[in-house]
Amino acid sequence: MQHDAIAVIDFGGQYAHLIATKVRRLCVYAEIRQPDDPVEKFEGFKGIILSGSPALASQGEDDDYTKEIFDLDIPILGFCFGHQEIAKHYGGTVINGGREWGRAQLHKVGEAHPLFDGVPEGDQVFMSHFDSVTALGPTFREIGYTQLGGSGTPHRFAALASDSLRRYGFQYHPEVDDTLHGGQMISNFVTGICGCKPSWTMDTYLAEQVESLKRQVGDQSIFLLVSGGVDSTVCAKLLGQVVGPQRLHLLHVDNGLMRKGESAAVLDMFRDLGLDQNLHFIDATDDFLGALAGEVEPERKRAIIGNTFVAVFEREARRLGIDGHLLGQGTIYPDTIETGGTKRSDTIKTHHNRVPIIEEMIRAGRVIEPLAELYKVEVRELGERLGIAHDAIWRHPFPGPGLGVRLLCSTGGADLAGVDLLQPQVAALAAPFGLDGRVLPIRSVGVKADLRSYEHPAILTGDLSWDRLQEAVGSILKNAQGINRCLWNLGPQTYRDVRPLPATMTRERLDLLREADAIVMDGLKRHGLYDQVWQCPTALVPMSVDGAGRELVVVRPIQSERAMTATAANLPAALLAELRRDLLVLPGVSGLAYDLTSKPPGTIEWE
Ligand code: XMP
Repeated sequence: MQHDAIAVIDFGGQYAHLIATKVRRLCVYAEIRQPDDPVEKFEGFKGIILSGSPALASQGEDDDYTKEIFDLDIPILGFCFGHQEIAKHYGGTVINGGREWGRAQLHKVGEAHPLFDGVPEGDQVFMSHFDSVTALGPTFREIGYTQLGGSGTPHRFAALASDSLRRYGFQYHPEVDDTLHGGQMISNFVTGICGCKPSWTMDTYLAEQVESLKRQVGDQSIFLLVSGGVDSTVCAKLLGQVVGPQRLHLLHVDNGLMRKGESAAVLDMFRDLGLDQNLHFIDATDDFLGALAGEVEPERKRAIIGNTFVAVFEREARRLGIDGHLLGQGTIYPDTIETGGTKRSDTIKTHHNRVPIIEEMIRAGRVIEPLAELYKVEVRELGERLGIAHDAIWRHPFPGPGLGVRLLCSTGGADLAGVDLLQPQVAALAAPFGLDGRVLPIRSVGVKADLRSYEHPAILTGDLSWDRLQEAVGSILKNAQGINRCLWNLGPQTYRDVRPLPATMTRERLDLLREADAIVMDGLKRHGLYDQVWQCPTALVPMSVDGAGRELVVVRPIQSERAMTATAANLPAALLAELRRDLLVLPGVSGLAYDLTSKPPGTIEWE
């Protein structure tokens, strides 16, 4: 290993990535490892951190990980579940009990410990656990206890250490921002106890990556698909530095599912970046819309878009005579490793960046993925260093299947399964808030208990503060089984003859959605909110609410960190008034709604 590095064992999806990013922020390289990775995969690391987990250490859950890591002569630190596993492994006791959730005060015990250098006495830490350590094995000592809310019953053994074994544990989560000096504690472990030198900076990464890619590519040329998204753009610019613009072939495919003016803007951007010597463009709208004609089922639409993409890619690569080149891909780190989160998300919605032909090329060693070690924030940092414009680097994420997952289709038959039962429930749950609640006779995709759901949205009509609306939405999503999405009606206030409309993927409907989406994006930018909101899909739902047979536009602004979870973002009243004014007059539109659903139980996209 060129740089000192820490391995982070992923016992539970989200936490491990958070830990790895915190370590990397110290300029020390960190990699995720799976609990069952053979011990050889830990070679060369200067320390290991065990993440938290939804599993219960007291019950022996997820206990079949590679225990040989404990034989390695490097420091190991565990958080929450990891802390309990360390206690257990060395003869301590873990019980199911002492459950806590929230902020607590950390009190140091005994002689000052280097893990707490720079951490004030009584500092705030974040607890979230069912199990607790109640006794320690030989050589271990308690170095801290905590008190929930500052005055609760002391939680003993919340921080433990065996300096002779170099094994340590924190019951709380230092990786979350609610643990105020969590970064300091991680730094004390990584740079102090493990002795890692902070050499992994973006400058050294860039210099090393360019050199290593030069060796890998030799005199070959590279072919890269560019969507205009941040990953493929940064990848193109980096590869341009490696082989020069003559040997870099870029292909932008307009699948007909792009935003308004998008393809032209993407081509302009690559020209501005000086990467236009072999910039190819293909308008494949006809291929995609032809293949999608008449299809209404969400998963089949996704599969068709994915398959058409591969067919167009193969055809164009042959036509351009570049099928012998290396294939560059902007795959980033979280996409390359299996975690609980990504393993499952595949079954919720099919993603299409690892299709068979590309996997075959990877096996043949014909694919290079220069961003495969980086997290999104690091890709953006690299992009800035490479001189890519701010707007391109901070664009909202846009799904591969594009507007295809935002343009709902329907046979026009009302999807009434369960609606009769749900309607009185939803109306009764909305009434205490002074809202009219109505179940829509269509369905959209969501995620419940990590599984795909395909259920009805409820729409609420009435004026209410944001906080009260959130309460109403929370109550309906919690209590009405069969509802996975809650909308707030922005107009018209009286619904007549609510029914689905027959609708498929046509150019006209896509143009309408493009227009609506552009109005929403312009509104966000005008109000200085584009950078504040993580993503804001606009969906076109073939649902008539006014008896006139026109469609419903749904705006879905969200806040999120990594798209695994999300909450609805609060848009100001002035912007909502403008959206009402500009969207409700679009020909073909008569309804407007604001999606207030968090994820889970909704997904960010409607399909
Ligand atoms: P969901 O709807 O699953 O979306 O909550 C999570 C994030 O992923 C994006 N998304 C996709 N991105 N190909 C992509 O490249 C896809 O098929 C796809 N489906 C969803 C979505 O926009 C959100 O940011």
